[in-house]
Amino acid sequence: MTTTQTQTAAELRVEDVSVVFSGLRALDGVSFTVRPGTIHAVIGPNGAGKTTLLNALSGIYRVASGRIMVDGQEVTGLRPDRVARRGVARTFQNIVVSPVESTLDNLMVGRHRLTRSGIAATALGLGRGEQRVHEARVRDIAEFAGLSGVLDRPAASLAYGDLKRLEFARALCLEPRLLILDEPVAGMNAAESAELARLVSAARDALGLTVVFVEHDMGVVMSIADRITVLDFGKVVTDGTPEHVRQHPEVISAYLGAPMESGNDQVAERLS
Ligand SMILES: Nc1ncnc2c1ncn2[C@@H]1O[C@H](COP(=O)(O)OP(=O)(O)OP(=O)(O)O)[C@@H](O)[C@H]1O
Ligand SMILES: [Mg+2]
Repeated sequence: MTTTQTQTAAELRVEDVSVVFSGLRALDGVSFTVRPGTIHAVIGPNGAGKTTLLNALSGIYRVASGRIMVDGQEVTGLRPDRVARRGVARTFQNIVVSPVESTLDNLMVGRHRLTRSGIAATALGLGRGEQRVHEARVRDIAEFAGLSGVLDRPAASLAYGDLKRLEFARALCLEPRLLILDEPVAGMNAAESAELARLVSAARDALGLTVVFVEHDMGVVMSIADRITVLDFGKVVTDGTPEHVRQHPEVISAYLGAPMESGNDQVAERLS
């Protein structure tokens, strides 16, 4: 990116967080810390509570107990827009973009937190000077994400890989200090996945971000995560470096059913 707008990366602390749905403990006393400027993966089988965790972090789900701290300040119980104002942006497991709007307009919506009067300014039209500054930055982020060629196309006409990158780029347009991604490479082919993994890493480096992401693609997880938290049945199974997690007996049995002696490719293959 040519215009840098470096933020201070946020620290995230998840302290003994539980989320309950009519008797089901989807998260049960989950704790982990994400150091500023690191990439932190959350992995685990289907239904483990990964998306529930991201929803709790971004204020979409209420936590039954525990605390969520961003840079030492509690965000537990804040509404999603308030959490966003603390510098937290996220993408969703299912793509959520406006299909009739152009790529550029979808990205501009991502800026609303930063405009003078929030979303109303986006809807009603910004002052021309302000609009120009935001649009320049959005075009910059789009170029970084490989979307320059599709800026004027309606989102509905984009290829799947472009749509996933649009979601990622829109989250970047909020200039977050903590970026939360739910399965960013799901459904992508190997080349697209590797490219998005590279983008996440590059965004962390260029923008000063902390990243928390959920992903089933172990090749991507092992290649970009500094630390990994493993969830199962709403609880933390283990937490540590990729090397530590790779050796953990419960991870090996839950994911592979056999010792993991091979490289990432084979791991990804057996998980897919
Ligand atoms: N809004 C909700 N209401 C009731 N139960 C829910 C709700 N959201 C999640 N759950 C339940 O909580 C548990 C964890 O679901 P969650 O979506 O967090 O899993 P996940 O780890 O993201 O799985 P996947 O890998 O399939 O995306 C599941 O049993 C799910 O059915
Ligand atoms: Mg999920």
